[in-house]
Parts: sequence; C-alpha cells; structure tokens
Amino acid sequence: MGDDRELDSMDVKNPERRRLLGLMAGTAIAAPVLGLGAIASAEKAAPPPAGAGKNAPPPAAAPGTMGQKEYTLPPLPYAYEALDGYLSAEILHLHHDVHHAAYVKGLNTAAAGLADARKKGDFAQIKALERAMEFNGSGHVLHSLYWNSMSPQGGGQPTGVLKTAIEASFGSVDAFRGQFAAAAKAAEASAWGVLAYEPLGDRLVVVAAENHQNMGFQGVQPLLCCDVWEHAYYLRYKADRASYVDRFFDVINWGSAEQRLRAVRPA
Ligand SMILES: [Fe+2]
Repeated sequence: MGDDRELDSMDVKNPERRRLLGLMAGTAIAAPVLGLGAIASAEKAAPPPAGAGKNAPPPAAAPGTMGQKEYTLPPLPYAYEALDGYLSAEILHLHHDVHHAAYVKGLNTAAAGLADARKKGDFAQIKALERAMEFNGSGHVLHSLYWNSMSPQGGGQPTGVLKTAIEASFGSVDAFRGQFAAAAKAAEASAWGVLAYEPLGDRLVVVAAENHQNMGFQGVQPLLCCDVWEHAYYLRYKADRASYVDRFFDVINWGSAEQRLRAVRPA
C-alpha cells in the first residue's frame, strides 16, 4: 500500500475489488454513506465487544428488503459509564440518546419525504430533501462508527494488517497520529476526524469531514472516526478540543478499525 499504482494495475480480476471500483465509478453518493455497508458487514463479522451483552449490534437487513427497512438507532456497544475516564455517562447519554437519535429520525423523515415526492411526481423540494438525507444519513453513519471507534479496553498500538497499512500509508503510527489529531483539531466548527480506506489508490487517508457529509473524498470507506462537534466533548473539556482529541487515543479501538479494513480491502 501507499504506492502510486495505476488503476489498471490493481487486481481487477478480484470480484470484490471490481465491486468497489464499480461503486466509485457509478455513483456520487457521499463517502460516509458508502461506508455504511462496511460498518454493517464489519459489525456482523466481529465478535460482540466484551461486556456488550444485550447491546449487540442490530441484525443486518434480510435479503429482499432493500429500501424497505426504517433506519434505527443502534445501542451503544458498552455501558454509558464505561468510558468515564474519557467521557462521562452524561455526555454519552445526551450524545447517543438525543443527538444520534435525532439524525436517525431526520434520515427516516427525509426518506419518507423523497418517497412521497416520487409518488406525487412533485420534486419542488428536491434540493432540501437531498440535503436532509445526506446530512442526517452521514450523521447516522459516522455516529454508528464513532461508538465503535472507542472501547473501554482501547488504546495502545494497532496490530496486524491495520498496523502494516498505517505504516505503509503514513510512514509510522506516530506520523498517522500526528496527522489525524491535527486534522481533527483544525477542522472548522462542527466536524469529524476520519481514518478511511481509499480503494482507488489502495491506501489509508485522513479526512476532516465538516458537518457530517462534506467529506471531500468520494468512494472512501471510513474505518474509525472522532466526533469534534462541541456536543461530543463540551460538558467535560469546554473549549479545549485539543485535549479531547489527544485523549481519544487512550480509548481508540484499533481492533474494530482493523476488522473494517479487512472487510473492505481484499487480501
Ligand atoms: Fe455527534
């Protein structure tokens, strides 16, 4: 990884790689939305996190139900107080139960509005509806990823294929950490720091996604993310976003990111 191989030198005989390339060539859907499948498949493949109990990830949609299922709020993969050394239970309650829930509700409302517009053949509100779907949908995807980007057993160093990919793409784990933290701290207003797999160049990239949907690199597959909207940290860190971002590495869930990388990048 990390070299400048051309598209035609990639393993295009590999069906999974062809599928990824087809996704990139055939759609302009916002990058975080493309990441939803990877999140779902990685969660499906991953063993439940320690202590998750009844908070297991929701089941994937059954075959033949494409587009028919309402979006739902996934439970936290750990107890609300599990990250208390980093984030309080009060922050997680508000962030998950109020903010994330609002994006799920907004996404379902936007989807219903689009369905109604198609039924009536009236697309007078199409711009607002598309904006609502992209904003709320990307918010839902990134928050779902965010909860699994942290773990009470997190921190330490990446291992396995993730470690190899980070070193190939950024030079070293420390160099990645420096770039990720700087991007998350510098992002304007409400934003995210995201580590993602970029399949066209077969490498990992750091993206600062402003709002949720303004990611700026179509086709990437998010692997882990840090929410730097103020609602994520203000109750404990006030205006000190830098400390919140630096301490994110104390709970970072490398194992979850590695599972996602394995799901989207064929060996
Ligand atoms: Fe958030």
